[in-house]
Amino acid sequence: MKLVSIGQNDLHACVELDNLSMGGFWSEKQWSEELSKKDSICLGLKESSVLYAIACGLILIDEFHLYLITVHPFYRRVGNGKRLLSGLLQAARGAGAQKVTLEVSTLNLEACSLYNHFGFKTKGLRRNYYRNGSDALIQWSDLNKY
Ligand SMILES: CC(C)(COP(=O)(O)OP(=O)(O)OC[C@H]1O[C@@H](n2cnc3c(N)ncnc32)[C@H](O)[C@@H]1OP(=O)(O)O)[C@@H](O)C(=O)NCCC(=O)NCCS
Repeated sequence: MKLVSIGQNDLHACVELDNLSMGGFWSEKQWSEELSKKDSICLGLKESSVLYAIACGLILIDEFHLYLITVHPFYRRVGNGKRLLSGLLQAARGAGAQKVTLEVSTLNLEACSLYNHFGFKTKGLRRNYYRNGSDALIQWSDLNKY
């Protein structure tokens, strides 16, 4: 699979993959806004023009806010998440960010484990943050090591 930048042309593929893979984290309108923000960085993994993974975030001065990462359910556990996150963090660093932050559910063990590979440490907690009542861990990592 190829690591590529994604934008408005990928809107429908993003909505489809989000629905399949995350149960609709963002609406089509939100996707459209996120894909067109000037300071957004959105990357994907594609094979023969089909989108199999997406990761998006926003640069805020010297911070990169990672909003989501998802891999098609049939293509997980073979390194695609790591490859995509590594590409996204390098791109964020290239755009001038020094640190990266995210929120992750305490119940999302796959994502917590992925973030742990990239040196993320928990610095705060938001109680009952998600629809399922789980808490959000607020994690940070230093981009200078990528
Ligand atoms: C989290 C997610 C992106 C990982 O993608 P992936 O392609 O499976 O990730 P990789 O194959 O690169 O694995 C990277 C690491 O993640 C962790 N991991 C991934 N799946 C895991 C699982 N089922 N159980 C435990 N750890 C897991 C492991 O630490 C793994 O490293 P390892 O293979 O050396 O043990 C994927 O599970 C996903 O899309 N989940 C649904 C969306 C989501 O919850 N996103 C995060 C919040 S926005």
